[in-house]
Amino acid sequence: VDPTLDLVAEIQRLRKEKNAVILAHYYQAGEIQDIADFVGDSLDLSRKAAETDAEMIVFCGVRFMAEVAKILSPQKKVVLPDMAAGCSLEDSCPPDEFEKFVKAHPDHMVLSYINCSAAVKAHTDIIVTSSNAEHIVSSIPQDQKIIFAPDRHLGGFLSRKLGRDMLLWQGTCIVHEMFSEKELIKLKAKHPDAPVAAHPECPDNIVQHADHVGSTSSILKFATEHPADTIIVATEPGIIHQMEKAAPNKTFIGAPGADGNCSCNTCPFMALNTMEKLYLCLRDEGPEIELDEHTRVEAEKPLRKMLDLSA
Ligand code: 13P
Ligand code: SF4
Repeated sequence: VDPTLDLVAEIQRLRKEKNAVILAHYYQAGEIQDIADFVGDSLDLSRKAAETDAEMIVFCGVRFMAEVAKILSPQKKVVLPDMAAGCSLEDSCPPDEFEKFVKAHPDHMVLSYINCSAAVKAHTDIIVTSSNAEHIVSSIPQDQKIIFAPDRHLGGFLSRKLGRDMLLWQGTCIVHEMFSEKELIKLKAKHPDAPVAAHPECPDNIVQHADHVGSTSSILKFATEHPADTIIVATEPGIIHQMEKAAPNKTFIGAPGADGNCSCNTCPFMALNTMEKLYLCLRDEGPEIELDEHTRVEAEKPLRKMLDLSA
């Protein structure tokens, strides 16, 4: 790309010309969040994708999120800046192995976290996100056995909080596993009045130190509304961009990894998307999400159940 090109102006021009909507997750670079039509957590973004009347959805997030947009809006063209933007939770749950696991437990209802492939969704009864998981699990009769995949930390958190045994797939998010309890304790000692907000993808030894545990949008709300002037944020630090915009007089500190700072907790998959790739993706209308129709139809059922249950 010509380095003199005004990427912001080009993106603005192309999005109008092509009737495209730009959706971005809170973990995207600040400049991408700023140019997006809508920024949100994975539940908000799936709702937006289902409702939009734009002809093309440009999804600035990771691939499973763009797949959700395509599953819910199959008539639209769905593109994402970098097709290599995967997710370690998705990688930890290969569809063939998951299918065997599900078949081996026919008396279990299958709940999957939205962070998984379309093929895994196709073998799922209800999808959940961290925004609605507690509500959805609570709505299932107590004697119903449950498989929860692929995030064992979110599954473990729900099990403990709701006092409910679930058969957990052993996947994890490499980003949320990087936080160091030892460094977090040191940081808390330095800022004794700062509350900690954590994502439930964090291991239990981090969640135990949190004053609030929830999805990215709930962390944003907690951090900006809490009366304290300093907040410790145990999730991907991209979200701090929105916090600083909403509450410019407060200080938001990303929870540290073992090296004592939070830069190691940047999601390497989310970081693959750049302004330049966003421009190219709008211009070239690709890379495009394409799904086999049978998988799409099967994956849509548990996603629609999720949307109905979280309405
Ligand atoms: P949210 O649904 O809270 O936005 O989380 C998505 C995600 O990938 C967290 O790592
Ligand atoms: Fe996946 Fe973790 Fe990145 Fe979220 S932060 S997209 S769960 S690897």
